Amino acid sequence: MPKVIILAHAQLAPEGAELDVPTGTSICEALLENGIEIEHACDMSCACTTCHVIVRKGFNSLNEQEETEEDLLDKAWGLEPQSRLSCQAIVAHEDLVVEIPKYTINHAKENH
Ligand code: FES
Repeated sequence: MPKVIILAHAQLAPEGAELDVPTGTSICEALLENGIEIEHACDMSCACTTCHVIVRKGFNSLNEQEETEEDLLDKAWGLEPQSRLSCQAIVAHEDLVVEIPKYTINHAKENH
């Protein structure tokens, strides 16, 4: 089973984490199942950017991005060439190293 290493994130994973993730699982699901509460404002339907992650290792092993994902990512905070929406990025057979960005843009929350 591929390993997904999560780099330390002050709020969500202060010490980082190492997850065993079955092939075919989205990075977002893997995080949530392991108690790392990444935001997922649109319920993983590829309609927000709150689940944005940066895949530091293993990026090329992931499934291709759809156009909607690319368009949304353009609006994400801290976009990098290895950015993905974690609910759309499916773990394949390679280990991954994933960074959760410091901020997300969550309009729903900002309005409160
Ligand atoms: S949870 Fe909204 S795009 Fe992933």
